[in-house]
Amino acid sequence: MKRYKIVLLSGDGIGPEISEISIKILKKLSRKYAFDIEVNEQYFGGIAYEKYNDPAPKVTIDHCKASDAVLLACVGDVKYDTLARELRPESGLLKLRSALNLFANIRPVKIRKPLLDSSSLKKEIIENVDLIVVRELIGGIYFGQPRGQISNTKVKKAFNTMVYESNEIERITKVAIKIANQRSKKICSIDKSNVLEVSQLWRDTVFNVTSKDKEISLSNMYVDNAAMQLVKDPSQFDVILTSNLFGDILSDLAAMLTGSIGMLPSASLSNSGPGVFEPVHGSAPDIAGKNIANPIAMALSTSMMLKIGLNEIDAANDIEIAIDNVLSKGYRTSDLNNGNCQVLSCSEIGEKIIQEI
Ligand code: IPM
Ligand code: MN
Repeated sequence: MKRYKIVLLSGDGIGPEISEISIKILKKLSRKYAFDIEVNEQYFGGIAYEKYNDPAPKVTIDHCKASDAVLLACVGDVKYDTLARELRPESGLLKLRSALNLFANIRPVKIRKPLLDSSSLKKEIIENVDLIVVRELIGGIYFGQPRGQISNTKVKKAFNTMVYESNEIERITKVAIKIANQRSKKICSIDKSNVLEVSQLWRDTVFNVTSKDKEISLSNMYVDNAAMQLVKDPSQFDVILTSNLFGDILSDLAAMLTGSIGMLPSASLSNSGPGVFEPVHGSAPDIAGKNIANPIAMALSTSMMLKIGLNEIDAANDIEIAIDNVLSKGYRTSDLNNGNCQVLSCSEIGEKIIQEI
């Protein structure tokens, strides 16, 4: 029997509610496909700060490093916003990404047929959307030095540095090429090279790396135009390759094409070692504990973990099929309520998904 050790980081806010469902899904799939899965839950985010005074304690990171894959829900709460930056849950997330060398963040945006009328955009605009955002995750302005605030001067100042080395751009470009080669072989690289030197290096490097693969067709777009195009004609995109900050912004935008940010999963990968699989949405403290969160992005992240992290392809596909079945029967969480469906709680829709497996 195959045995997997995963680390679960259920984090803050709605994290525990949506995690519970994914763990039940995993248990059911492990029986169905006869694999053994050990779930090791660790403190991470705000709750880890409460316990260890560190949102990403060493013990958690060590467990993650020793696992086959990490399933992460979400972190953060307004109550931590006044903490020193390094103590905030979001900093813990960045520390984890960096410690596991997770330079490649993969965010697939797929329209699920039953949700065609749930998007704020017209059905004709979104019906053929099937794109993947490949976001560089451990470089750029999120990590660039120097950074800081100067407040001992008359006028306060704050600054960050957007910096990339060509090798960081090369390795993420190679990931995009690999993904594009399994799809339509089209890559659109997004930057701001009309203004930023760092984007010029990005553009030149992406060109150099992609031109070694004759099958790949590369286009480039400025990030402001890309934001417009994603709303105007999103189906023109297949693989979007972009830097950390631009990828953060554009992936939230792209998420809304699907109807709700509660639908979008992601995988964060390194070249070796465990990946982290997490929904794109945050911890939604305003609805935490109310049992109304949408657990689908977390379930789809669990599917990505099974597929990419554990190579359990059939089990991974089962989750996607189960979700489509539940949605086509008209069940929705309240974020997807279009007035013409049956609104269920987080745990109820979770049970429906589990029943379909
Ligand atoms: C994301 C999130 C994080 C990011 C935050 C919580 C640090 O928005 O995963 O997209 O900006 O990367
Ligand atoms: Mn984000």
